[in-house]
Amino acid sequence: MDVVVLVSGRGSNLKAICNAIDAGTCEANIVGVVSDRRKAAALAFAEERAVPTRVVPLRKGDDRDLWNESLTKEVAALNPDLIVLAGFMRVLGPPLLERFPGRIINVHPALLPSFAGHNGPQEALDGGVRISGCTVHVVDGGVDTGPIIAQAAVPVLADDTADALHARIQIQEHRLLPGVIHQIAIGAITLNPLSVNTPVADSTQSLTVPDA
Ligand code: GRF
Repeated sequence: MDVVVLVSGRGSNLKAICNAIDAGTCEANIVGVVSDRRKAAALAFAEERAVPTRVVPLRKGDDRDLWNESLTKEVAALNPDLIVLAGFMRVLGPPLLERFPGRIINVHPALLPSFAGHNGPQEALDGGVRISGCTVHVVDGGVDTGPIIAQAAVPVLADDTADALHARIQIQEHRLLPGVIHQIAIGAITLNPLSVNTPVADSTQSLTVPDA
């Protein structure tokens, strides 16, 4: 299964996917990494691995429709079977969604549908929840709203900061996301535009709330 990974930042999830591919636990092939940010560390990592990279920058004042068209053109040229948003900080417009219906997934650092958007870990703290986690879901036209494929739970600790919670959530993302990609690759999960027909709740994490 040929995969294009969309990134904006550090790329720890991209690295986790690559590690899983190297370890033989994720039967996918990364055919390209596409970013909206030229300076994304994830791009440098992809280049080190000789993975083709593309940059489609979106600056203040740029025409968003044109940007969506350019992004779609670059991604489509790589001919992916699956598109993975791994820390891609833009909402996708209709061109890419319509070109790859049900073939785009995202990883989010909260248990959706709670705490969608850019500040999942901070909002989980502000909301006073005792358990947060991460979600892999199909991308639709909303912000973190598509059908949920898999989730992993992470306890919120009494003295947590958003950074500390996010770091522990990322440990789970790095396990969950390559696992979902593998399951899609081997046909254990089938995606379609409207639903996920084999949702896999990830129940390997303890749901016990630690003593405060
Ligand atoms: C992850 O926490 C992911 O859930 C969110 O953005 C972060 C990206 O991290 N969408 P990285 O760039 O993969 O390290």
